[in-house]
Amino acid sequence: MNTVFDLPPSESPKISPEMELQETYLQVSGLSLSLSGQEILREVSIELTENGITMLVGPSGAGKSSLLRCINLLHQDWTGDIEIDGYDIRQWPHGADALRRRVGLINQKPAVFPCSIHDNVIFGLRGKERSALPDGLVEQCLRQAALWDEVKDRLYGAAEILSIGQQQRLCIARALALSPSMLMLDEPTSSLDPRSKQLIEISLSKLAERIPVLCVSHDMEQARRMGGNIIFMCNGRVIEEAPAAMFFSQPQRLETREYLRWTVCECD
Ligand SMILES: Nc1ncnc2c1ncn2[C@@H]1O[C@H](COP(=O)(O)OP(=O)(O)O)[C@@H](O)[C@H]1O
Ligand SMILES: [Mg+2]
Repeated sequence: MNTVFDLPPSESPKISPEMELQETYLQVSGLSLSLSGQEILREVSIELTENGITMLVGPSGAGKSSLLRCINLLHQDWTGDIEIDGYDIRQWPHGADALRRRVGLINQKPAVFPCSIHDNVIFGLRGKERSALPDGLVEQCLRQAALWDEVKDRLYGAAEILSIGQQQRLCIARALALSPSMLMLDEPTSSLDPRSKQLIEISLSKLAERIPVLCVSHDMEQARRMGGNIIFMCNGRVIEEAPAAMFFSQPQRLETREYLRWTVCECD
């Protein structure tokens, strides 16, 4: 195999049986974050206790991306507690890189590397994971990301010539190759063609049967379609959290009702 990148040996944390049995995948408690003297997150508490999709919605500037960045230790100067699989993420074995392998984060703008489609999928694999690549892993990840049929005849072709929608699905496949225990996506479809958007929604729904998926979206129709749970954030706070059917039919908070009606929010 002609791989372009020679990465150091695996630094995956050793997961003890007790950790595997934890029922709470993600627990965020009293999370506050200030950047440049501005309060960005204020006492945010959320919990993902089972597989399924959770849509994180709210106006621009609400703090949605900042929350995901804290969970992935891309921001580190927060206060409060974040636990994944019962583990304080600040004490994560082998540090932030190992955590990010366990909890994939996909951004709005796909980041593909200047190598083949195949090598992009296995980009994060290291050492033995890469040299003893399980049969069919690349196909399996590409299938789960709803991209296989479009690229199966050109796996060793350049990834950079794929459409943006295909590149985004490739990023999902790359995250899946690391067997994440949870997937986070930050507006993954906001700049995509309708077909890619639909394929990603289908792919995420299937993935959410196996792992918790936390997905930011400003598209309320998408949030409604995806179902699952909705967390509504505004101005750095969680305003309301409810199953999608309830959230859209019987919003409890005035701020939520206003947001659903006008897609803007006046809370402070
Ligand atoms: N690095 C930073 N320094 C200062 N302020 C920031 C930084 N990153 C984000 N912010 C501010 O934090 C607030 C929340 O941003 P963000 O988390 O991106 O919101 P959302 O994803 O909900 O649109 C915004 O007011 C934004 O300007
Ligand atoms: Mg954002």
